[in-house]
Amino acid sequence: MANGMYAPELQPREYRENYGEFIGVGPNGNLWVEDCDVAKLAEEFGTPLFLVSESQFRYTYRQFRDAFRRHYPAESQILFANKSNNGLAYRHIMNQEGAGGDCFGVNEMYLALLAGTDAGTLVLNGSNKEDEELEMAVANGLCINIDATDELDRIDAVCRRQNRDADIGIRLKLDLDPLAEREGVAMHGPGTLKEQSDSTKWGMTRDQTVAIVRQAQQMPHIHLRETHFHLSRMSNVAMDFAIMAREMVTWSGHIRDRTGWTPPCIDIGGGWTFGKWYGTGPRGQIDDDSAPTADDYARLCSQEIQAEAERLGLPLPKLRLEPGRSLSGPSGVTVGRVGAVKQGAKKKWVNLDLSTNHLSWSSALDWYYHPVPVVDATAERTETVDLVGPLCNSDELGPHVRMPALERGDYVAFLDTGGYTEPCAARYNAQLLPATVLVSGDRAEITTAREQLQDIAGRFRVPPRLLAASFVRP
Ligand SMILES: Cc1ncc(COP(=O)(O)O)c(C=O)c1O
Repeated sequence: MANGMYAPELQPREYRENYGEFIGVGPNGNLWVEDCDVAKLAEEFGTPLFLVSESQFRYTYRQFRDAFRRHYPAESQILFANKSNNGLAYRHIMNQEGAGGDCFGVNEMYLALLAGTDAGTLVLNGSNKEDEELEMAVANGLCINIDATDELDRIDAVCRRQNRDADIGIRLKLDLDPLAEREGVAMHGPGTLKEQSDSTKWGMTRDQTVAIVRQAQQMPHIHLRETHFHLSRMSNVAMDFAIMAREMVTWSGHIRDRTGWTPPCIDIGGGWTFGKWYGTGPRGQIDDDSAPTADDYARLCSQEIQAEAERLGLPLPKLRLEPGRSLSGPSGVTVGRVGAVKQGAKKKWVNLDLSTNHLSWSSALDWYYHPVPVVDATAERTETVDLVGPLCNSDELGPHVRMPALERGDYVAFLDTGGYTEPCAARYNAQLLPATVLVSGDRAEITTAREQLQDIAGRFRVPPRLLAASFVRP
């Protein structure tokens, strides 16, 4: 089936309490994903468990797509950031919806192609692309966003070897001067939005960009298609993103004036959010109900892009976006089972079989995910506890959270964990990676098999000399 031909109608649910359009407190008082009781899913598939609501994933994608269609008068296209959940089933769903994709690395590109994604809707990003990656991208016709000074020559060499043409974009190092004083959550070290953006490895300067364009114009196999930028999730202010989008157009004018080439498309990356009334996100400081909606982003970005294009006498570019977490995040629920409950002098710890291996952003980025008891989900939260995992570090999943009294065998679910959970999961302390189950209506199907001990032990090798030495008796 060609991409974008199957998109089922979606009917948001009315739960006793809604955490999303397809996730909430069901008629029996338990947490439900679509029409499934999460307690039953946990019994059937075991814990720790990643659950994904297919309808929620489709729904949030459509919200973004429709908001930009509504507000942006030229063509817009959503490229799902595959890294946020690169499982094959999710890519199939995005293909059915007609979404393109952003790939990082040879394997993520391979997975997207394996799922049958139209390569013309895929971009390859990356600061250090391997030869194998460039070969695969050129052979399959992905747009390659250049992010190194020698990359164009390397792509051109691949094109000549394969006797094929390549589409390219250029990842920019925007100046972001209007964001020089804007404080942001520290996602890339401390500093303002501009300071954080300046400090990352990404993007080509104005001079480097102009040099790449001039060089590409001399290369018959190379077709210039877009410029690219990614401002990550540092603030709750939609205008910060709109200022970034406006500067993309400013750079288009700069490039045109020096090379005669006007980028026909600007790709404004990811970092878009979904706000929740109960909060989620970096340090629990943003991504609450003051967070912008897809409509806010679309309206302001569109307004700023149009004003700048008009000022510079440029045609409106095609607009591409690469939302990841905002599409996959709200569709995921991660479930753990309570084990030891320990009361200390000043604190109570509730141990789960879920760990920061599975919700790695809670330790790496100090990310807040909203925890909910699975059974009797709205029970009064009478205690302040630390939800912890079993790893040998402090393994804090949720410090100082309010919960009802929990006992061994109870389940706790963390909401909005559909983005960067499964793809970032680790195996520290030889923990096995969880299974993932895709829920659609009353259907629940495994989309990632639970890891087995042989998957870990089977990769280890012992050099024979060590084997022999281990059995030498004194
Ligand atoms: C180039 C690029 N595009 C898109 C994304 C997706 O970002 P988010 O999931 O915050 O929307 C990322 C995230 O790292 C990225 O590096």
